[in-house]
Amino acid sequence: MKAVAVQPGVPDSVHLREVANSSLDSFSDGRGVLVKVLEVGVDGTDKELISGVYGSPPPGDDYLIIGHESLGVVVEAGHNVHELRVGDLVVATVRRPGHSIYDRIGMYDMTTDDDYRERGINLLHGFLTEYFVDEPEFIVRVPSALKEVGVLLEPTSVIEKGIDQGYEIQRRLRIWHPRRAAVLGAGTIGLLATMALRLRGLQVCTFARTKPRYLNSDLVEEIGGCYHSTKDMSLEEASRDHRGFDLIFEATGYSPIVFEAMTVLGKNGVLVLSSVTGGGRTIEVPADSINRGFVLGNKVVVGSVNASRDHFAEGIKDLSQGAIQWPGWLSKLLTHRIDGLENYGEIMRLLTKPKATIKVYVKVADE
Ligand code: BGC
Ligand code: ZN
Repeated sequence: MKAVAVQPGVPDSVHLREVANSSLDSFSDGRGVLVKVLEVGVDGTDKELISGVYGSPPPGDDYLIIGHESLGVVVEAGHNVHELRVGDLVVATVRRPGHSIYDRIGMYDMTTDDDYRERGINLLHGFLTEYFVDEPEFIVRVPSALKEVGVLLEPTSVIEKGIDQGYEIQRRLRIWHPRRAAVLGAGTIGLLATMALRLRGLQVCTFARTKPRYLNSDLVEEIGGCYHSTKDMSLEEASRDHRGFDLIFEATGYSPIVFEAMTVLGKNGVLVLSSVTGGGRTIEVPADSINRGFVLGNKVVVGSVNASRDHFAEGIKDLSQGAIQWPGWLSKLLTHRIDGLENYGEIMRLLTKPKATIKVYVKVADE
């Protein structure tokens, strides 16, 4: 079967290759599930993998099949699989258990291992291929009503985890009633975070560089958020009218904005960081003032990566509710479809196209 792969560490090594067919033979316990891939989304992580600055191949291979945002259909299930059936629409989780105490209690999204294993990213092959196999523990059933937008579930799981971390931490306040939220970034993650926070009843201001109006700013407004451009204005100036956000979700991929976010975070607020910034940027920051604001305001900042199976379940709830509340809105996030694995060359071209690109995904096959 065909697969799209990179040689990790080698820039622009993305290629189509022939790989061994996936089969359930390796599962002697009858717990294997064979999934036919329908669609695979790509994101900044894939951009870094293709640029050769992130990721590692599985031990013994010199290539890595990329793709971690999957949508597929079960075509075969081992005799000991009772959770899933042939024909089920599914999405696979990304990270697999490692060795830390968190991994051993099923919280591998919280692993402290340095060599974490993630399908399509690090040490494990991904889903940008025709079929894949895995155990039911790592495969989530998706309602068929979400077929059109199911490829958004993995990125949705990432924002669910971030928001959940924020709310978990805020249980310290006993009666936390967040009203105002800011989302930094209006790409796929920023827009999905805007939706999830709107569904929780918060006022949401979404900040990004591009000046309105354009598709992303329209999408924010369609679900009752407000959009601000930070192009000519710092976050602090742009948010002057909304001082004191209770929750800020950062998803720009631009680390200096984190320190600006710290200054506009309200008392008792929580700042959730979700951008994996690959570079080595340094900046000067008003350290005393930020620190003083945090101490005197009992503020929290938390980093969040990956997602547990529960966050995928939360994602299904929010995608379903979002689809009911704002019909057609989620589909508008799917701006660029690449038809067929053989058009893999389009991935990098579209991921580096600055405007009008929200979610790029590869249509691999029909059901
Ligand atoms: C993926 C996450 C993953 C993270 C770090 C993101 O693009 O969506 O599942 O944990 O990259 O590798
Ligand atoms: Zn991702």
